[in-house]
Amino acid sequence: MSQLDPQSDPASDTSAAVLDEHPVITGVPMVDAAGEAVRARLDEIETKLDEAVEASTPMITEAARWIMRAGGKRFRPMLVVLAAEFGPRAASDEVISAALVVELTHVASLYHDDVMDEADRRRGALTAHQKWQNSVAILVGDFLFARASDIVADLGPEAVQIQARTFARLVQGQIAETVGPAEGVDPLDHHLQVLADKTGALIATSALLGAKMAGADVRVQQVLAEFAEQIGMVFQLSDDIIDITSDTTGKTPGTDLREGVPTLPTLLVRQQSRPEDAQLLERMDAAVDSDEARAEAVAMLRAHPAIEQARAEVARRADEARALLEQLPDIPARAALAELCTSVVDRTA
Ligand code: IPE
Ligand code: IPE
Ligand code: MG
Ligand code: MG
Repeated sequence: MSQLDPQSDPASDTSAAVLDEHPVITGVPMVDAAGEAVRARLDEIETKLDEAVEASTPMITEAARWIMRAGGKRFRPMLVVLAAEFGPRAASDEVISAALVVELTHVASLYHDDVMDEADRRRGALTAHQKWQNSVAILVGDFLFARASDIVADLGPEAVQIQARTFARLVQGQIAETVGPAEGVDPLDHHLQVLADKTGALIATSALLGAKMAGADVRVQQVLAEFAEQIGMVFQLSDDIIDITSDTTGKTPGTDLREGVPTLPTLLVRQQSRPEDAQLLERMDAAVDSDEARAEAVAMLRAHPAIEQARAEVARRADEARALLEQLPDIPARAALAELCTSVVDRTA
């Protein structure tokens, strides 16, 4: 393995498990359903992502490729490419560029997010701030964002504006999560708005830009964007369940608890405030400062009905997203998007 390959890091032993965990990567069933052309486009995006992060020095290039090469589901590029199938120019270079823009924006946000969340692992590899230092990770995130801006400029002012507004929403979602709900705001409402902004916005934009660059009908663009925002929420909700229930995500379980970041299961526990949860609530509060308390809170949460309730909410929202697809023409990409809904629900099972 090359020195530039984060999976050569001996601590990256979870990568195989990550691949097993996500049906979205293994076999990519929804891509298979949409056909060979989609698969070929995703391969081209992979090569161009690697080229897009070439920097002025080998060190910066290595740091910029680190998380990109560590893996990842390429969920956003996949949505760009599938949404593009609904337009007459699905095979255009603009569609590929849109996919680069959204994945580069996403990865930039991951560099920043891992500093904020003091996360040790990402995509099965050491996080960039652990391998280098916080300031390098933050600046590499900025560098990747600059590369995304460079590419989106070729797509015209409307695309630039969409990307800028999306990034503004994402960042405001991250800030809202960091500062918590204002007085009088329901924590659950606040949380759902955070998820829509930090995750839903960029996923919606992935579908919107894909459809737009392919010249899809405006109504079809709107439906795809609405679908993607909803499935983006479902995806983040499922991710937060997995943070508690899985040891094989390529990230450290219980990171949200350690950072005191609320998630649907923990908010449900707090909202219901059952007398039998007194010990769990105490361990959840202590989890911010204590590894032992965090491990105990994770174990108690895994057996708690709130996990089942959160799973049910994921399934309900996925069904709602799936229903939107009925407004779209019945092409293989539509079946692929429906399958995506199923796989996002299945990953929490
Ligand atoms: C991680 O996104 C951050 C969230 C919004 C949950 P992904 O789960 O899409 O991460 P990768 O790209 O597959 O690593
Ligand atoms: C990541 O949110 C969202 C963005 C990067 C904008 P999280 O902090 O919940 O995601 P993970 O668990 O680190 O992937
Ligand atoms: Mg995080
Ligand atoms: Mg975070």
